[in-house]
Order: sequence, then structure tokens, then C-alpha cells
Amino acid sequence: MSIILGLESSCDETAAALVASDRRIIAHALAGQAESHAPFGGVVPEIAARAHVDRLMPLVEQVLSESGLGLADVDAIAATAGPGLIGGVMVGLVTGKALAHAADKPLIAVNHLEGHALSPRLADPDLAFPYLLLLVSGGHCQLLAVDGVARYRRLATTIDDAAGEAFDKSAKLLGLPYPGGPELERLAREGDAAAVPLPRPLLGSVEPHFSFAGLKSAVARAVASGEHRPADIAASFQAAIVDCLIDRTRRALHAAGPVTALVVAGGVAANGPVRAALQALADEAGLAFVAPPGWLCTDNAAMIAWAGAERFAAGLTDPLDVAARPRWPLDPSAEVVRGAGVKA
Ligand code: KG4
Ligand code: ZN
Repeated sequence: MSIILGLESSCDETAAALVASDRRIIAHALAGQAESHAPFGGVVPEIAARAHVDRLMPLVEQVLSESGLGLADVDAIAATAGPGLIGGVMVGLVTGKALAHAADKPLIAVNHLEGHALSPRLADPDLAFPYLLLLVSGGHCQLLAVDGVARYRRLATTIDDAAGEAFDKSAKLLGLPYPGGPELERLAREGDAAAVPLPRPLLGSVEPHFSFAGLKSAVARAVASGEHRPADIAASFQAAIVDCLIDRTRRALHAAGPVTALVVAGGVAANGPVRAALQALADEAGLAFVAPPGWLCTDNAAMIAWAGAERFAAGLTDPLDVAARPRWPLDPSAEVVRGAGVKA
């Protein structure tokens, strides 16, 4: 049994966690920054980086003291090394390097996407490779065949916005506070999903890629028209996103080859209707459906510690001069998709 200290700082959550290789989450702590970024309607990289500097070490101290453990009891230190906002990534990675050096422990540079991709195995001990993963967050919207630790085939990505980004931008258009995804889900409960006709970009296209920019523009037009209740726009938008995610995932199930389960991870996986529709798709395909609990879907350090535990068990550690990577595809062989921009 090994114990991994995980650090996360790639976007606007600062987090530390201690996770054991037997899936025990010994302690986890998280400091969100939503109130610091809310006045700007989105994450301000410089504010985020400074907040990580202030908060990360106190969180490390908190999880150690809560668990009654010292750094000497930890087997390895796992830190997010990308992709993400480079200032924040550097804060977490340099902190991880310093702790690893001081305590003479191995360092594991974790790809944040691998954290999301393996988090369902932390939540569900029965989840075996290979599985089809829908990774839907604020920065990413991908379908991945997860064949094993460090073995990913990217089947699809977004050619413009990520699903969470579409939620956040549409929420902003509806005048909802940042971060908009959960707020929009709440508002949508009071609306009629059939009230506002909205497009389903790329629905039915052969490659299972995603596109949400046109949907967001249609939301902007619906808001500007003044003809619809905000709750109806929210409900109609959410229904359109669900239709796109399900259609694309169904297609990827055919492209993936045999899989043990349909799995969802990333912040948008916290969305109730998205989860329900994916459950129905899994039922239709005769597959198990695995969705980690909401707090494990949004950014956290337990998933980074767990990815570290999986890599550590596979003998994968990194030198102390490993570089932070603002861009870092999980599947380096995946083709560059037109318009996929910086995040794919
Ligand atoms: O995984 P995550 O915490 O950070 C990234 O790596 O991007 O995902 C955050 C994203 C945000 O866009 C947020 O609005 C969205 O996940 N999100 C939701 C919900 N909860 C979080 N979107 C829709 N419904 C939700 N309940
Ligand atoms: Zn994330």
C-alpha cells in the first residue's frame, strides 16, 4: 500500500489531497476562487496564480495535520504539470518539486486530463480498462478510449468551445453569476426545454467531434430577441447540449471497439440531465455507467493523487527538472482538429 500527496492548481481551484493506493481518500482540501474571478466573468490567470501561491501550502499542511501524517509517511508527490493556465500550473509543480526534494520522495508529473480520466477508478473499484470516457469540463470536451494507465486514444474533441465553456458563456448571456454551469442547471429546472428552437451542431456527423460555438450564438440571439423567458432558454440550451453529447458519445461507442463501461468525468459530469441521459445511453448499449460523485468530477486534488497512485504503481515517476506544459494532449498521436485551438 502506498500513500500519494496530490496537488492541483491548473485553473481556479487550489487543492491538496492524500490518497492511498487502496482507494482510501485519507484527506482532501480545496479552496475555490470563484468570488475573486466573479467580477470579471471568468478566470483571470494572474489572480489565479497569486491565489495558488497564497493557498497551496496551507492546504498541504491541512491535509497532513488532519490525517496525522508527515511528509515522511508519503510515498510520492503528484502535482498537475499541465495542461492549464501556466502560472498556476507552475505554482503547483514547483511546490511539488520542492516537497519531493525536501522529503526525498519521488515526483509524479500528472496530466490534469489523466486525473479526470482515471478519477472514475478511484470512485469505483470494479471499473476495468478499457472504457469509453466522455471528458466534459470547462476547458475540454473529448471522447477517449482509456485502454490503461498512460494509454489513451482520443476519438473526438471539440472544434471550438468546450461543453462547460458553452454552459458558462450561455449562463453569462442569461445574466447568471460565474461559474455559470450549476446556476444554469438550476434555472433550467423552471423552464420548458421545447420552448426555444436551438441548433444541435454536428449532430449526426460521422466523426464524433463536438462544436458548441453556434449553439452559444443562438442563445445570444434568443436572449437579445426578448421573446423568451430566461428559464426556457436555459432549459432549451441544456437539452441541446445533452442531445449533442449523447449523439457524439453513441457514435464514439462504435468507434472505440470493445469497452467495459461508459464513463463520464469533468465538471459538466456534475450536471443531472447529462448524467441521466448518459445512463440511458449506457443501458441502451448494455454497458455499465460510471460517474464519479460531483465533487470528484470538478477539479480537485484527490484525482491528481489517484492518477499519481496509478502511475506510481506502474513505475512511472518523473525527474525534478520536468517541465510545466500549458498544452499537453493525452493522446499525442491524435490529429490536430481544425479549430480545436489551444486546449485539445
Ligand atoms: O473540471 P472542471 O472543474 O474544470 C476544468 O478543468 O475545466 O469543470 C468546470 C466546468 C465549468 O465550465 C462549470 O460551469 C461546469 O464544469 N459545471 C457544470 C456543472 N457543474 C460544473 N456545468 C453544467 N452543470 C453543472 N451542474
Ligand atoms: Zn479539470
